[in-house]
Amino acid sequence: MDLGVKDKKVLVTAASKGLGKACAKAYAEEGAHVVIASRNKSQLERAVTEIIEQTGNAKVEVVVCDLTKSQDIQHMIQAVGPVDILINNAGGPPAGKFNDFDDDDWQHAFELLLMNIIRTVRAVTPGMREQQFGRIVNITSSSMKQALDGLLLSNTFRPAIVGLSKSLSQELASDHILINSVGPGTMETDRIRDIYKQQPSDESVEERMQKAGANIPIGCIGQPEEFAKAILFLGSAANTYITGQTLIVDGGAMKTL
Ligand SMILES: NC(=O)c1ccc[n+]([C@@H]2O[C@H](COP(=O)([O-])OP(=O)(O)OC[C@H]3O[C@@H](n4cnc5c(N)ncnc54)[C@H](OP(=O)(O)O)[C@@H]3O)[C@@H](O)[C@H]2O)c1
Repeated sequence: MDLGVKDKKVLVTAASKGLGKACAKAYAEEGAHVVIASRNKSQLERAVTEIIEQTGNAKVEVVVCDLTKSQDIQHMIQAVGPVDILINNAGGPPAGKFNDFDDDDWQHAFELLLMNIIRTVRAVTPGMREQQFGRIVNITSSSMKQALDGLLLSNTFRPAIVGLSKSLSQELASDHILINSVGPGTMETDRIRDIYKQQPSDESVEERMQKAGANIPIGCIGQPEEFAKAILFLGSAANTYITGQTLIVDGGAMKTL
C-alpha cells in the first residue's frame, strides 16, 4: 500500500526517544521529511543520526522545544513551517495518588499532556486548511479508555484529549484534516524500564518485564516499532475516512469494549 507520505512534512513531538522516535523512524522509512522535537538537544541529535543511519533518509531535522512552554511551541512551529502531518507526543506524567499532588503538579500535567496539544493544533491547522490536507495523531495512553492504578494525572488528562479530538474531528473534517488518538498499552521504552527500576524487587527488570508480557494475550510487552505502525497509517494520506477515533495498541491486554 502506498501510504502517500513521501516528501510530506511530518512533525513528531517528544521524539528523541521511545515511541516518538519510533514514529519518526517509521515516517523516515517512507521517505517523509521529518522534524523531531524535545528538550535535550544532544539526545535529539543522537536520535537523528540513528534514524538517518537506519533509514538512509537524510531529511530528518531537530528543533528544541519544551512542550510545557507556550513560547517554545510558537518557536518550534515558526522554525518548522507548514506541516502536513503532526504527531503529538509528550513525556509521561509522574505516578501518584490524589494527595501526592499540589496545584503546581496539576498545572504542569495540564500543560504537558493537554495544553500542548491545544497549542500545536492551533498552530498547524491554518496551514493545513490552506493546503486542504492534514493528519494529526495524538499519542496518549490506554488510560484514555480505562484508568490505570497509581496514574491519576494520566487518568485525568488522557480522556480529555479524546473529548478534544472528537470535537476537533467535527470542525476539521471538511478541510480534509483528520485527527485520531492512539494509546499504548505497555511498550518497551526507557520510561517503562525506569518504572520497573523504581519498583523494589529481588527479580531483575528483564525477568519482571517477561512476566508482565506473559500476562498479555499476545504473550509479550510491545516494541515501539509495533506501536509506530498504527500511527503511520492513521497519520498518512492512505487514511482517508478514519477521524475522531481512539485506538489502543496493547497486544489485547485491555478487556474493555
Ligand atoms: N511506553 C509505554 O508503554 C507507554 C504506555 C502508556 C503511555 N505512554 C505514554 O507515551 C508517551 C511516550 O512514552 P515513552 O515510553 O516513549 O517515553 P520515553 O521513552 O520516556 O520518551 C519520552 C520523550 O518525551 C520527551 N519529553 C519529555 N518531556 C518533554 C517536554 N516537556 N517537552 C518536550 N519533550 C519532552 C523526551 O525527551 P527530552 O527529555 O529530551 O525532552 C523523550 O524524547 C508518554 O506520554 C507516556 O506516558 C507510554
